[in-house]
Order: sequence, then structure tokens, then C-alpha cells
Amino acid sequence: MTAAQHLVLTRQIEGETRATLTLMRGVDDAEILHIETHAEHRRQGLAQGLIAEAIAWARRNQRQAIWLEVRASNAAAIALYGKTGFVQISTRQCYYSDGENALVMKYTL
Ligand SMILES: CC(C)(COP(=O)(O)OP(=O)(O)OC[C@H]1O[C@@H](n2cnc3c(N)ncnc32)[C@H](O)[C@@H]1OP(=O)(O)O)[C@@H](O)C(=O)NCCC(=O)NCCS
Repeated sequence: MTAAQHLVLTRQIEGETRATLTLMRGVDDAEILHIETHAEHRRQGLAQGLIAEAIAWARRNQRQAIWLEVRASNAAAIALYGKTGFVQISTRQCYYSDGENALVMKYTL
């Protein structure tokens, strides 16, 4: 995987990077590899804004879907993805090295 396959979206405020989203651009689909908001700046809509930007990019670039995996215990992220239109497609058992399951979620364009 090369850097060219990644799109990194950020929210910079007052010279500080407050939120980051890394999208892998596949041929037909895209995948959110990472999203994080600085702990002091959560619940201000920053991650939601980055996801909207990723969806707009995918639409402009004729991708058919955006995929992601999230820890089953990550209630904040699951709520974020649900609010932005992702739906759970399946579960990957023991996906993480500590044995936790992953939820596979998809946004269909
Ligand atoms: C998950 C994360 C990226 C959310 O970032 P954020 O900028 O705080 O999210 P937003 O402010 O855009 O939240 C949008 C919506 O997501 C949901 N949400 C976000 N954080 C939530 C929380 N802690 N509890 C419940 N719902 C939450 C809410 O519906 C929220 O809308 P609302 O504030 O109007 O209720 C952030 O908590 C984070 O960086 N977590 C650590 C890294 C991580 O787990 N990344 C995901 C890995 S898959």
C-alpha cells in the first residue's frame, strides 16, 4: 500500500490539528482506516465533519461504498458512524489481537 492510496483529512483550528481521518482509496470502494479527535475537542462535530468530507470525496470520485471496522466496545465511534449513515453489515469474531470482535460497517453511495 503506498501513500498515494491514502487521503488524509484534517481539521486545523488555531494552528492545531484537532481531528484526523485517513481514508484508503480502493478502486471501487474506500475504507476509513483511522479517525481520531483530540481528547480536549470531542463532541464538537469535528469527526462528523471529516466523515461528511470523506463521503463527498467518495461521491465525487465514483466510489460505490465506504467501509470500516470498529471495536464492538467502541460506543462513541459506533454512535458516530450510525449518525453519519453507516450500517453494520457483519461481525468479525476475535478480529483484534486482544480477542475483541470487530463490527464491519458500510456507507453505500
Ligand atoms: C470517536 C471519535 C472520533 C468521535 O469524535 P468527535 O469529534 O468527538 O465526534 P463528533 O463530535 O463529530 O460526534 C458526532 C456524533 O457522534 C456521536 N458521538 C461521538 N462521541 C460520542 C460519545 N462519546 N458517546 C456517544 N455518542 C458519541 C454522537 O451522535 C455525536 O453527535 P452529538 O454530539 O450531536 O450527540 C472520538 O471519540 C475519538 O477520537 N475516539 C478515540 C479514537 C477512536 O476510537 N476512533 C475510532 C476508531 S474506529
